[in-house]
Amino acid sequence: MNVKVKPLRQHDLVNLVEFYAASGIDCALDDAPHDRFADFENERAARRAAVTDASAPLSLNKPAGAPSLTARGTPAAPKNAPNFIKPAPSTAQGDGASNEDARMRAQAAGTLEDLKAALTAFEGCSLKRTAKNLVFGVGNPDARVMFVGEAPGREEDLTGVPFVGRSGDLLNLMLAAIGLERDRDTYIANVVPWRPPGNRTPTPEETELCRPFILRQIELVQPDLVVPLGGAAAKQLLNTTNGILRLRGRSMTCATDKGAFPALATLHPAYLLRQPGQKRLAWQDLLKIKEHLSAGP
Ligand code: URA
Repeated sequence: MNVKVKPLRQHDLVNLVEFYAASGIDCALDDAPHDRFADFENERAARRAAVTDASAPLSLNKPAGAPSLTARGTPAAPKNAPNFIKPAPSTAQGDGASNEDARMRAQAAGTLEDLKAALTAFEGCSLKRTAKNLVFGVGNPDARVMFVGEAPGREEDLTGVPFVGRSGDLLNLMLAAIGLERDRDTYIANVVPWRPPGNRTPTPEETELCRPFILRQIELVQPDLVVPLGGAAAKQLLNTTNGILRLRGRSMTCATDKGAFPALATLHPAYLLRQPGQKRLAWQDLLKIKEHLSAGP
């Protein structure tokens, strides 16, 4: 059957762009469609081939059709790959070696500056390729309280600063409500420091790769209290699968390689913007945070 597609009129295009924006698709990554599922399959095939090759007698011939590999064993960029998205030297995700590499890089950092440099140099997480900026922690590195969100959104990606959009405005008000001034009294970071495209939820593999860096950031700030914002951050930092409505407001600990830090999770400001009725729960948590801080170090 020959289906005739009507050309889109201007107002259809406007509606389409609005639909994309409402769905979180608010930035163009390529000029042409890019099949990232195919990339992933090629990379996986290349990794499998590399493992098989390592256990097979050495052959100088590449199997027909297999993607060529770089010196580091990762697939080389196809010849016609658009050059405005740099192929990362490593796109391996979620395997033990990448996680161990992330852990070693994070642990080697002796200061927050070192850690930021380590993240800037880290090519293991493919979110870095689509993000505009690294969104590292900000605030007072000597702060007694450290707030940790899930991952940057659009505004944060554009500015490289965590919590500067609508959620950030609400967070600032929440802090002010218990007498905290953001830059003076707090340190704020995210579990994942690069914006997932279209604000999608980071995959478990992406989160796992970024986890050693946020844990090291906590170790370097040494806060008296860690406050995970929302369920995703709470699950990562408190090492639990419980939902935020069960975790919030409870005295817990955030375990790192170098020790455990008192923690108290609360609701994410983005959730409170959608569910303003839940602000009363957040208020109870804020009062507990205030009480914890007034008890002294
Ligand atoms: N939501 C987050 O979890 N982090 C930010 O930095 C902004 C919004």
